[in-house]
Amino acid sequence: MPDSADPRAPQGRPARREPLPFSPPDIGQAEIDEVVDSLRSGWITTGHKVKRFEADFAAYVGCPHAVALNSATAGLFLGLKALGIGPGDEVITTPYTFAATINVILHAGATPVLADVRREDFNIDPAAVAAAVTPRTRAVIPVHFAGRPCDMDAIGALAARHGLAVVEDAAHAIGAEHRGRRIGTLSALTVFSLHAVKNVTTAEGGMVCTADQGLADRIRVMALHGMNKDAWKRFATGGTWRYDIVELGYKHNMTDLQAAIGIHQLAKVERFRERRLAIVRRYRAGLGDLPQLTLPGDTADGRHAWHLFPVLLDPDRLAVDRDRFIGLLAERNITANVHYIAAHLFSYYRDVHGYQPGDFPVAEWLSDREVTLPLYTRLTDDDVDDVIAAVRGIITANTR
Ligand SMILES: Cc1ncc(COP(=O)(O)O)c(C=O)c1O
Repeated sequence: MPDSADPRAPQGRPARREPLPFSPPDIGQAEIDEVVDSLRSGWITTGHKVKRFEADFAAYVGCPHAVALNSATAGLFLGLKALGIGPGDEVITTPYTFAATINVILHAGATPVLADVRREDFNIDPAAVAAAVTPRTRAVIPVHFAGRPCDMDAIGALAARHGLAVVEDAAHAIGAEHRGRRIGTLSALTVFSLHAVKNVTTAEGGMVCTADQGLADRIRVMALHGMNKDAWKRFATGGTWRYDIVELGYKHNMTDLQAAIGIHQLAKVERFRERRLAIVRRYRAGLGDLPQLTLPGDTADGRHAWHLFPVLLDPDRLAVDRDRFIGLLAERNITANVHYIAAHLFSYYRDVHGYQPGDFPVAEWLSDREVTLPLYTRLTDDDVDDVIAAVRGIITANTR
């Protein structure tokens, strides 16, 4: 179907025959060739391709230092460790996130303190952050949900007032901007995910961006056992075998095989975003008139990375709940997902850390209603129209 066609009018559209996956990666020949080149080169772990990927990433984001790691989880964890955060410290974050954001605080030995989110953008509410600050608070981890930037002016001002570090969880937010400044340049540390479903992928991977040379160096050392020289430098011509272990480190380095993918993914990030935006516009044209659904809004004063397309169902207007809605989509060969179950509702946090249903009412309200529709560059207009037709068909059949 050409771009100009009206994606509405599901009536008569045949049901989709093939299952539509939720978020497959968009890997091109350049990525494949680069991985093969690495495999043939004799150097497959951390090496010059990681260095090149870091330099490309820093140039794209506009940050002085980018450190490539094997996950964003590792980046968030090492970021907290590099800031010296540990037992006795509190770190404020959102319950509307993936478990990794909270788990790293616990792994660092600190205490997560959750602050509720805002209905309009699913992002942490600066007023709730302000209310959660205590004399033990050391840092805030805002999460740019779905790629839509948090209110970084308010969070930055609050952090400055209380002497808190800001570590941005930008797992969803490559290419996003807040008031003309790219995410990755605003805070002490910003961590991007390069996991398989993310807008730019290395299969698994993460990137830490910072303007602080000391933090970047510390994260590099901790990512490789606490060694004061990375393997590439040790084994490169003119390098020396000798090294010291200067602290208790971990094993979180990125390999050249991953960087080989990332270099070519990153080169396409703007093109990828354009395609995601076109899909968002098509969803809006096809679903925007339905009062049973609330579609995600755009940032008023920035740039959305459009990692996810989270819609909210209105339970007062529908005869099916969210889980049934997703089941009905699956019956029509459309895979949808949920981002997220509010963290305080999971049994581990509830049982071990004492959270209760009702503790974060906005996060819970969103968590009960949210359905994430497929949003990825390989979706064709026809695929998007299949999703629109399925959603419209389910809503028409199940409106109260
Ligand atoms: C909000 C958020 N934070 C952190 C992570 C962890 O990223 P990674 O899988 O690269 O460790 C994810 C991954 O899905 C995420 O969505």
